[in-house]
Amino acid sequence: MMTNHSEDKEKLALPVGVALDRFIKRNEDAFPFATGELSQLLRDIALAAKIVNREVNRAGLAGVTGLFGAENGHGEQQQNLDVIAHVRFLRALRNGGEVAAVVSEEEDDVLFTGNEAAKYVVAIDPLDGSSNIDVNVSIGTIFSVYRRVTPQGTPPTVEDFMQGGTHQVAAGYVLYGTSTMLVYTTGRGVYGFTYDAGLGEFFLSHPGMVTPANGAIYSCNEGNFNDFPLRVRGYIEACRTRGYAARYIGSLVGDFHRNLLKGGVYLYPSTAKAPNGKLRLLYECYPLAFLIEQAGGRATDGERRILELPLNKLHQRTPLCIGSAAMVDEVTAAMQGDRKPERMEAGGKEEGRLEETVSEVLVASASV
Ligand code: AHG
Ligand code: MN
Ligand code: MN
Repeated sequence: MMTNHSEDKEKLALPVGVALDRFIKRNEDAFPFATGELSQLLRDIALAAKIVNREVNRAGLAGVTGLFGAENGHGEQQQNLDVIAHVRFLRALRNGGEVAAVVSEEEDDVLFTGNEAAKYVVAIDPLDGSSNIDVNVSIGTIFSVYRRVTPQGTPPTVEDFMQGGTHQVAAGYVLYGTSTMLVYTTGRGVYGFTYDAGLGEFFLSHPGMVTPANGAIYSCNEGNFNDFPLRVRGYIEACRTRGYAARYIGSLVGDFHRNLLKGGVYLYPSTAKAPNGKLRLLYECYPLAFLIEQAGGRATDGERRILELPLNKLHQRTPLCIGSAAMVDEVTAAMQGDRKPERMEAGGKEEGRLEETVSEVLVASASV
């Protein structure tokens, strides 16, 4: 008997999935008043991500790795790839026409694109995890999008960037890892796309990402342990006592992505060297906080919700505690103890012994 083997034919040529452009278009079609500008902006970011991905993949070659020979506004040595990624994203956003101004980790001031009529501004960490560039370890890009508060058609100002994390209209990151992924939210869930280099397209691979409510991974630079606040040390000791896994790449995007998928907590508290923490609120912490909350997790500075922290200057730093809800709640509750006046010696130094603090954390979590 003759069959047309239609099922076999389908199996021979499995669908490649939903391409990012098509996904963005479908979402736009679902909103009758959407004008398509945010969609175009996201496509511009995806284009720059593909170009930076190509540069990252060539990173062993001369001219791509190594120091650029200048410092950024934070006194950090710029790597060539920091500068390359900055230029690539800025150019894509300028040429795309939907962005009036950009704030980048690599420049002190607001950068005007010349598109005064545009509706949006973008804050960006073009290359996150710079210390890992030369050693072939995962790095990333983090971005955050705001609708302007200044009228379209007038010059954008710094006020467009000072709105606070709850006003983000979109945020995301690109992870240049074992595969390259783009993960973003527009406030209706988190969607992850994996890059198919052969086709030159991102395809939906992680729809509706939800982070586990709890986890057994803690991520921090334990070399700074002795400089951490007492209650953070207590929390870390509690994690060790429970046999949690320590995982720390030193690329925030990579550490965040792993914990998002597996459940865990990332901590960059204040240290003696960095009393306000190391990470930047506008283009590192706000966007990742938006993503983690959309995925069901939490982000605090050890006390307050990151998204509600006021931004007083563009490159402001903050301590960060981000990840699974139960873990962030636990460490945040533990850190409240640091601020109790009875725990402070004269001069504001925290009092108490580490052993007591560890058992307090363990007892508090047992009673939850
Ligand atoms: P950047 O490369 O954009 O300056 O960011 C580096 C950040 C972050 O990615 C990472 O988690 C953290 O710095 C690592 O800091 P330590 O080396 O102090 O652990
Ligand atoms: Mn960074
Ligand atoms: Mn950076």
